[in-house]
Amino acid sequence: MAANKKLLVLAGDGIGPEVMKQVLRVVDWFAKRRAVRFDLSEGLVGGAALDAHGTPLTDKTLADAIAADAVLFGSVGGPKWDDLPFEKKPERGLLRLRKEMDLFANLRPAIVFEALADASTLKREVVAGLDILILRELTGGVYFGEPRGIETLPNGTKRAVDTQVYTTPEIERVARVGFELAQKRRNKLTSVEKANVMHTGVLWRETVTKLHAKEFSKVELGHMYADNCAMQLVRNPKQFDVIVTDNLFGDMLSDCAAMLTGSLGMLPSASLGAVDPKTGKRHALYEPVHGSAPDIAGKDIANPLAELLSFAMLLRYSFDLADDADLIENAVKTVLAGGMRTSDIMQAGSARVSTTTMGDAVLRQLDKMAA
Ligand code: IPM
Ligand code: MG
Repeated sequence: MAANKKLLVLAGDGIGPEVMKQVLRVVDWFAKRRAVRFDLSEGLVGGAALDAHGTPLTDKTLADAIAADAVLFGSVGGPKWDDLPFEKKPERGLLRLRKEMDLFANLRPAIVFEALADASTLKREVVAGLDILILRELTGGVYFGEPRGIETLPNGTKRAVDTQVYTTPEIERVARVGFELAQKRRNKLTSVEKANVMHTGVLWRETVTKLHAKEFSKVELGHMYADNCAMQLVRNPKQFDVIVTDNLFGDMLSDCAAMLTGSLGMLPSASLGAVDPKTGKRHALYEPVHGSAPDIAGKDIANPLAELLSFAMLLRYSFDLADDADLIENAVKTVLAGGMRTSDIMQAGSARVSTTTMGDAVLRQLDKMAA
């Protein structure tokens, strides 16, 4: 049998550890029942790493992440660390992982499960059956552009600078992933920027258009300004298939898309690097879209499904285990259809359950499906 797959688990802060605990039960289930085995190691990130080592990500943990076949990430941050200087904040741990692992392609699916179509704040007919994918550029743009910083001017006032910057290769590589993903779905890509006011937007549009003509002319390509895209996402989200956009617009539009589905507690994401032509491998990190939710941490009420669906994405994208990923996704659908809900997706007539009970239910369903 092939060597075990190296999996690094970074649960982080807030609800991260408690949702991860449920997912690790499922990882264990896969080892026992499906012979999908991992060499599993765990590390600290975010506030947890700060408390233990004085930095949100140690060099050792970063090296482990780079050496792993995949990283399963929880969430970082909390009020305890809010007043720290920028460079020490828990979030820096995550940003450093993204940057140093060169995880430029961030896939954020927004899927409405039939059982949850009424949990959205939007009308059922607008969101029922929704299945779109936001592809966010993750290692460039204003998140990392130089110069950046705050300076004090001679007159005592301050001046802050962030820089939005993109190069042709940076745009091209993420656009290529976008076209390839669209080809496997409904063959439609919407490229989103603000070419009406930003130079990066002009270059973005030009680069995507050229790549389309050269390599992907059979994919239906549209361009949209980011503000209009935000509006279209709540007006008629089903017009989209894959949306490709920059780091900052992707951050905002993916939160917007997430809420169409009724709960941030349901949404997974994958952050992928380039495929190494020699080994065929790519760096990859999987994380729920939700944050550390410090207000509900430690109460066993958080929804573990986004973390679990992140693990399903990990099986699908890092290990080509589509059947196993399907198994998890179908188990989740069945459990939801049976009426179990954590607080975040609670509906009248459903049964409110704890994080642990949701984990139990998924495991029971997996047992049934594998029997
Ligand atoms: C996200 C988050 C992060 C981001 C934060 C935690 C740094 O909002 O993954 O969407 O802004 O990218
Ligand atoms: Mg965000």
